[in-house]
Amino acid sequence: LSGGPLQGVHAVVTAGPTHEAVDPVRVLTNRSSGKMGFAVAEALARLGAQLSLIAGPVSLSTPPGVKRIDVQSADDMLQASLAAAAQAQIFVGTAAVADYRPAQTAPGKIKKSSDTLSLALSRTADILSTVRDRHPALFMVGFAAETESLVDYARDKLRRKQLQMVAANEVGGGRAFDVDDNHLIVVEAQQETDLGHAPKTELARALAELIAARYLALNPS
Ligand code: PMT
Repeated sequence: LSGGPLQGVHAVVTAGPTHEAVDPVRVLTNRSSGKMGFAVAEALARLGAQLSLIAGPVSLSTPPGVKRIDVQSADDMLQASLAAAAQAQIFVGTAAVADYRPAQTAPGKIKKSSDTLSLALSRTADILSTVRDRHPALFMVGFAAETESLVDYARDKLRRKQLQMVAANEVGGGRAFDVDDNHLIVVEAQQETDLGHAPKTELARALAELIAARYLALNPS
C-alpha cells in the first residue's frame, strides 16, 4: 500500500515449516501452519513495505500486495532467503525451519521390513546466521519457539545470531503452532515488550509497528 511509513523499504519474511525428504513419499517436518508469518508479511505490507514472503509448504492464500516464493526444504529456503535479502533492508524469520535433514534421501520408497528403522540426520544451515553474515546492514528479526525459559533463550538467540529483535513465543500444550492466537514477547538488547495474548493478526500488526519504529529510528529518511 502506498503512503505508509515503510514505503520504499523492502522486507523479507520467511514462514511455515520446511519439508526434508526421507524418500519420494515421506518427509521430516516441524509443526507450523504459516499463520504467524503470513500475518507478519501482511502487516508489514500494510505499512507500505515491499514484501517478499518465502513460504514453506502451507495451505494459506497469499496476502494482498505480497510477492510469494514457495519452497520445500531448509536448503531451498536458505537459497531463496539469500537471493531476496540482497535487495532488502528488513528480514523477519518466522519459519519453523527443520534443524536436521536425512543425511541421504532414498531414491525409492523405503519398504517396511524390520521393526525399527534408523535414519542418519545431518544439520541444516542456520538461515538467520547465514543471511546475517552476508548482509551485516540488514535489520533482522528472529522468532524463538521455546517450551521453557523463554526470554533467556530469546536473549541468547539475539546475541548469538546478532539480531535486532527476537519475538519469543511459548510452545507446547497446544500453544502457538497451528492455532489462530499467540502470545509474543519481543526481546531487544535494551528492553522487552510484552505484546500480550491476542489473535495472530493483531500481534503481527503490533510487531510490524515496533519493527517500523525501530528501523526508522536507525535509518531516518
Ligand atoms: O506457523 P504458525 O502455526 O502460525 O506458528 C508460528 C510459529 C510458532 C512457528 C512461529 O511463531 C515461531 O515461533 N517461529 C520460529 C519457530 C522456530 O523454529 O524457532 P527456533 O527457536 O527453532 O528458531 C529460532 C529462529 O531461527 C527462528 O527465527 C527460525 O526461523 C530461525 N532458524 C531456525 C533454524 C534454521 N535452520 N534456520 C533459521 O533461520
